[in-house]
Amino acid sequence: MKLLGIDVGTGGSRALVIDEAGRVTASATVEHAPFASPHAGWAEQDARDWWRASASAVREVFASGGVRAEEIACVGLTGQMHGAVLLDESDEPLRPSIIWCDLRTHEQCRAITERVGAERLIRLVMNPALEGFTLPKMLWVREREPEVWERVRSVLLPKDYVRLRLTGEKATDVADASGTLLFDVGRRRWSEEMLDLVGLDRALLPRAFESAEVAGRVSAAGAEATGLGEGTPVVAGAGDQAAGAVGMGLVRPGAISATIGTSGVVFAATGRPALDPKGRVHTFCHAVPRGWHVMGVTQGAGLSLRWFRDQFGAGKDDGRDPYERLAEEAAGVPPGSDGLLWAPYLMGERTPHLDPHARAALTGLTASHTRAHVVRAILEGVAFSLRDTLTVFAEMNVPVETIRLGGGGARSPLWRQIQADVYGRAVEVLAAEEGAAYGAALLAGVGAGAWASVDEACARSVRVSARVETDASASALLDGRYAAYRALYPALRAVEGR
Ligand code: XUL
Repeated sequence: MKLLGIDVGTGGSRALVIDEAGRVTASATVEHAPFASPHAGWAEQDARDWWRASASAVREVFASGGVRAEEIACVGLTGQMHGAVLLDESDEPLRPSIIWCDLRTHEQCRAITERVGAERLIRLVMNPALEGFTLPKMLWVREREPEVWERVRSVLLPKDYVRLRLTGEKATDVADASGTLLFDVGRRRWSEEMLDLVGLDRALLPRAFESAEVAGRVSAAGAEATGLGEGTPVVAGAGDQAAGAVGMGLVRPGAISATIGTSGVVFAATGRPALDPKGRVHTFCHAVPRGWHVMGVTQGAGLSLRWFRDQFGAGKDDGRDPYERLAEEAAGVPPGSDGLLWAPYLMGERTPHLDPHARAALTGLTASHTRAHVVRAILEGVAFSLRDTLTVFAEMNVPVETIRLGGGGARSPLWRQIQADVYGRAVEVLAAEEGAAYGAALLAGVGAGAWASVDEACARSVRVSARVETDASASALLDGRYAAYRALYPALRAVEGR
């Protein structure tokens, strides 16, 4: 038996096939057209392009010879969250989809908070109104493009549009639905009260399933476009964060990940819908029944290092990865970077400051500091910023047992050690990190009966390859530097006169 995961990302769609031992046997990625930004802060993609890319990626997987269509027992979907796909009565997209990183809805967020009340919002949907979420995007179209809104008959999330084309069914899953601001995250169903308050009809939204439930089968048209067998079951799947967590084996309370990509995400699986009354972290359903998760986001994580590389270079090209050269340079600098501190707010900050206008800073420079000090200070500053989410988790009594590392921060031995020392806990690195598509394939395996539960799927498939212990003296020193780092944000606000 083979299982197929499809990840409808932002840059491209990926198809990945695994066997019952969780081994990857084939994968293919097909790029999307870059998102359009007709105004500053806007981000739009054509949903039909996601379907084109997903169908081609699946066809490529079959063409690679690693798998035959008859072997695929089940399909799992995942993808970028929060985007609004607005469909007419013939299920045709009415306009380009406004996606997760679009920032145009500040006004709608303010209006939602005013209409519903900040406290009731948290009670009904467990999250504050944030620009990225789906509801503010829908309200923007209702207000600004009434002629479009009049024709909207259904609203789907990005991966669920791919599901519609693949199976003919309109469905979503509880994890992805959590990012709409219309979902009762505690009860795992659409919030009728929220829908009433904002004047939206429940009929616009698809049915929400648990992630490993079968929510449709490949249709004749879906089979023709992808090469999959007609009738192949398709599970509900999950938004990319929850599916990625499944792929890293994070399903039980206490399991945490710290992933450093362009942005940084600290994710915790919880056994209850844990709430931060200040809304500094997102509280969503997890892809496991009776499971939830919380996550905090650092906007400028890997981005900080990329910015340094692009502006100041990565030393002499010796054929190695530039990030490896930068890390080697920084390895000679002692923990604490001899007093330098980096505040990574190059793109504002989400957790814990919820401040799109925050600015980055490098402080503590003297004439004896070198480039290498700056690089190490950046690696430490990003880790401090991720630790801010752990600090919020501690205030919320979210248990933290193991921390698994993902993304670029897991590949560099120096950044791994810095994270272990800054978090004050041992960190784990996985044998294979295949991202959200892998988690979607595991969910498909549960739907197909290969594994009895998501827990079992993870236990059978996800392997830890290394564990990095904290260095007690570095950790004690960095604890002190974290206290100094915490003083930076309010000081920077004062400097900016805000
Ligand atoms: C989650 C989020 C991103 C998007 C894009 O809240 O905004 O993970 O899903 O990948």
